[in-house]
Amino acid sequence: MHPMLNIAVRAARRAGTVINRALNRLGDVHIDTKGHRDYVTEVDREAESTIIQTLLDAYPGHAIIAEESGEHGSSDFVWVIDPLDGTTNFLHGYPQFAVSIALKVRGELDQAVIFDPVRDELFTASRGVGAQLNNRRLRMRECQGLSHALVGTGFPIRNAATLAAYLPTLTAFLPQVSGIRRAGSACLDLAFLACGRLDGYWEFGLSEWDIAAGALIVQEAGGIVTEPNGGSGFLKSGNILCASPRIHREMLKTLQDAQQ
Ligand code: IPD
Ligand code: CA
Ligand code: CA
Repeated sequence: MHPMLNIAVRAARRAGTVINRALNRLGDVHIDTKGHRDYVTEVDREAESTIIQTLLDAYPGHAIIAEESGEHGSSDFVWVIDPLDGTTNFLHGYPQFAVSIALKVRGELDQAVIFDPVRDELFTASRGVGAQLNNRRLRMRECQGLSHALVGTGFPIRNAATLAAYLPTLTAFLPQVSGIRRAGSACLDLAFLACGRLDGYWEFGLSEWDIAAGALIVQEAGGIVTEPNGGSGFLKSGNILCASPRIHREMLKTLQDAQQ
């Protein structure tokens, strides 16, 4: 394993321990509201500081972009961290949330970890080397066509304009696919796509930390990751479409037709 990935795995597992411990005392967890239907808990903050400390102990010169504490430092090596993706699920004890850590090197995704502490599933990827689930190599499933596909998505409930742009795409996909799931953790949606539990995934209005690790894991499992218009700036725009090659073509066409 790449030494930087090894450190990221250590950081993600430590954060997972913080999260699992808190699951047993959910009623006592302190919750703050960051914005409209946007929550942060002491658990998000503790998991994040555990991750940052682990990474900076090993690589003190590296920079950080983290959901709860923002940007620290400046370097060619930037860690992009979502300490708890799926906070609303976590607060309900709904078992769909995870830790997401990616390393960008000179702006390019290079290493990725997503850790699901409930299922003890560790998804990892290194650029050019492949993706793994618990050390088993991941290859994306080749679905026969959109009508057979189970696809994931997310509802952009915090922004009215994004929701208005999104809803026609949901209406367009519903009659075309085998099923649509909104599970509530973007990083796990991507991890589930990489291991064949989903065939495609699209969402609008995400942040870089929601998708950075998952995008590399999907790419290294053989999937295609773009914006819903086919562009490559998904980390910046937060609008994303991912699937295996054949489904990606079909989903792109549906999205383009729906947005005309
Ligand atoms: C959220 C989850 C969710 C997505 C939201 C994200 P958070 O992350 O990934 O699936 O639809 O847009 O903000 O706030 O739980 O870290
Ligand atoms: Ca998130
Ligand atoms: Ca989060």
